Amino acid sequence: MISVQRLSKSFKGRKGVKQVLDDVSFEAFDGEVFGLLGPNGAGKTTTLRSIATLLQPDSGKVSVDGFDVTKDGRAVRNRIGFLTGDMKLAGNLSSREMLRFYGELNHMEPSHIKARIDRLSADLGMEEFLDRPISKLSAGMTQKTSIAVSILHDPQVIVFDEPTSNLDVLAVKVVADFIRESKASGKCVVLSTHVLGEAERLCDRVGILHQGKLLCSGKHDELLERYGQKNLEDLFFHLVFQGREEK
Ligand SMILES: Nc1ncnc2c1ncn2[C@@H]1O[C@H](COP(=O)(O)OP(=O)(O)OP(=O)(O)O)[C@@H](O)[C@H]1O
Ligand SMILES: [Mg+2]
Repeated sequence: MISVQRLSKSFKGRKGVKQVLDDVSFEAFDGEVFGLLGPNGAGKTTTLRSIATLLQPDSGKVSVDGFDVTKDGRAVRNRIGFLTGDMKLAGNLSSREMLRFYGELNHMEPSHIKARIDRLSADLGMEEFLDRPISKLSAGMTQKTSIAVSILHDPQVIVFDEPTSNLDVLAVKVVADFIRESKASGKCVVLSTHVLGEAERLCDRVGILHQGKLLCSGKHDELLERYGQKNLEDLFFHLVFQGREEK
């Protein structure tokens, strides 16, 4: 499980200090999918990078299966598979070779690497391009390769930052089915998206982030009931625009 308690983060820029996350708290549980929703610049990637130990929080406590991201970074990284847009796979290696390379980096046994590559390429529909150089793949094929790289070590916690960007409808379904299967096998899945329909179909819990503040978080159906909204899109506009009017 993931616990984020009172997470704040600011960045220093030319115009001074910018508060990017302001007192963000939520929990994501095993056997569930948590969706972090919010418009561009809301702070979704910053939150997920903090969970993945790539950013040091200014304040607050973030833990993965009880391991603190600042104190037990290695234990957190072993448990987590993190997909992010800035992975930027490229070059002459094929997807299979890239996956082997990451497996070896993670000290996985060759037989385990092979079994995981076979399994993931079947689940994600990668067989057809597995041995082509990554530089010659389409954006969607590269995205599938990035997904496979991020979860090659079969982590208990899966953190996907916009997993379906660049994917066509068929590939979106492949990834969504994969997320459902991961959840069914007891994994904890957190994903960020601004495709609200996708979140509607996949997420057990959601959090809506806007300008660094979490406007709400909780069980999908309970949130709709609490705010009297019929779907996530309505809830999103209700909270985001209501928030603006109050300022
Ligand atoms: N390393 C950084 N240095 C300075 N500012 C940053 C840095 N990373 C993010 N920001 C700023 O933090 C804010 C939130 O960015 P973040 O990438 O977390 O948003 P997001 O919700 O993921 O948006 P998107 O939907 O566009 O991916 C933005 O204003 C961004 O410019
Ligand atoms: Mg982002």
